[in-house]
Amino acid sequence: MEQVEKIIDERIQGKALVTENKKENTKKLFIESYGCQMNMNDSEIVAAILDKEGYNTTQILEEADLVLVNTCSIREKAETTVRKRLQKYNAVKQVNKKMKVGVLGCMAERLKEKFLEEEKIVDLVVGPDAYRDIPNLLQEVASGRDAVNVILSKDETYGDVSPVRLNSNGVTAFVSITRGCDNMCTFCVVPFTRGRERSRDPKSILEEVQSMVDKNYKEITLLGQNVDSFLWFGGGLKKDFKKASEMAQATAVGFAELLDMCATKFPKTRFRFSTSNPQDMSLDVIHVMAKHKNICKYLHLPVQSGSNAMLKAMNRQHTREEYMELVDNIFKIVPEMSLSQDMIVGFCGETEEDHQDTLALMKYVKYDFGFMFSYSERPGTLAGNKMKDDVPFAVKKRRLQEVIDLQQEHALFRTQQHLGKIEEFLIEGTSKKNPNEWKGRNTQNTVAVFDKGNYKLGDFVMVKVEDCTSATLKGTVVGYSDNN
Ligand code: SAH
Ligand code: F3S
Repeated sequence: MEQVEKIIDERIQGKALVTENKKENTKKLFIESYGCQMNMNDSEIVAAILDKEGYNTTQILEEADLVLVNTCSIREKAETTVRKRLQKYNAVKQVNKKMKVGVLGCMAERLKEKFLEEEKIVDLVVGPDAYRDIPNLLQEVASGRDAVNVILSKDETYGDVSPVRLNSNGVTAFVSITRGCDNMCTFCVVPFTRGRERSRDPKSILEEVQSMVDKNYKEITLLGQNVDSFLWFGGGLKKDFKKASEMAQATAVGFAELLDMCATKFPKTRFRFSTSNPQDMSLDVIHVMAKHKNICKYLHLPVQSGSNAMLKAMNRQHTREEYMELVDNIFKIVPEMSLSQDMIVGFCGETEEDHQDTLALMKYVKYDFGFMFSYSERPGTLAGNKMKDDVPFAVKKRRLQEVIDLQQEHALFRTQQHLGKIEEFLIEGTSKKNPNEWKGRNTQNTVAVFDKGNYKLGDFVMVKVEDCTSATLKGTVVGYSDNN
């Protein structure tokens, strides 16, 4: 089935991740990451842990001592892709017999020991909260034992691990601020594979941002499954407080405060964040966005469906009307805000009328970007256990196409709004289509391509937008922005 996968960062999908090598490291690690940006960031944490164990990264599978694949379980297709990669590793292992293979991330967590039975090639299985244990697990493997650690933690945030940046453009980076998710949307496997939600100490977040700024990074994306529920209590985690009154007395840092702290401390650094959950989004965050020029005016605000019946069945904690009111308020505070959605079509019991509600909601918002999926039943979720995946394949396919087509129209409408304007873009890399052109993004997250001239990677430039497709702007640089 056709699906538009969420490839926000094309660097990460199924590509060996590498970084600068150290002379003293003698072993070779081949690491790949599938799925979300959080997985990519986790792979950077794993690389940091293994760097201390004497591993350098390699792009050549055949020469690896250790192959790690960080996996995604969000839809069936994501799991199928990983199974195919395991076959490829297997072929290589027939020649390079000493090579060890490990599975990390959500599939490891979901399938646990079963992985070792199902895929004979796998030597170690490590869940998202057990990466510190990889050195011990490798010793187990070396002594011929199976190595599995899928214990989920209530407080692991890897806050003290300084990630090794992999395949980095040296300009943009991700910093994780929360792990796990407590929301229990009925279709979603994440709460089961990534465990309870926990927030990272703001001090360690600011230190990591500082280290990125020192290395000349220009844009930081704060990551969490649900950033709006970020909550840190001075001296403790949410779960450490037994009474509400104790919590009220502790100094709390919420997401709006964290964002304000970051933007104030690093005024030349651009900040983005993802993902915002409509039910937890407070307008305080939008006011902080309005206050700081360096917080990008872009919100990823997944809605999943425009139908109240579907939202209820999905256990999303808001109605379509509440969502529309939120969008109205966002535009009142930040009129230039760009918005993106995640949408699931063909969820259990979805009628034609529900689908029409989704299209109508999209027409109301006119999202700049969208990530659209047809429902994929996941074992172990509430919908997987209790609801019937009853929308026929062909209907799902048709509805998905309608949603994608409408999104294309809206994307074009949004890109056209930039025509004739002079906007600031951060140069992030070379255009895929033309080696003589840079590509960069503006505050709204819209990509533009323009002639390289004498400008460099990491420069903030002012570009006159002259042309557009639904996905890309084209323009001419008129000079540096005052942010350099
Ligand atoms: N809060 C998370 C959501 C993670 S999942 C975040 O940081 O983005 C990303 C998207 O995948 C969801 O918003 C949803 O649209 C889609 N998705 C999740 N489970 C799905 C399923 N079972 N079938 C199809 N799409 C799914
Ligand atoms: Fe999944 Fe819903 Fe959390 S989509 S990640 S359970 S907010």
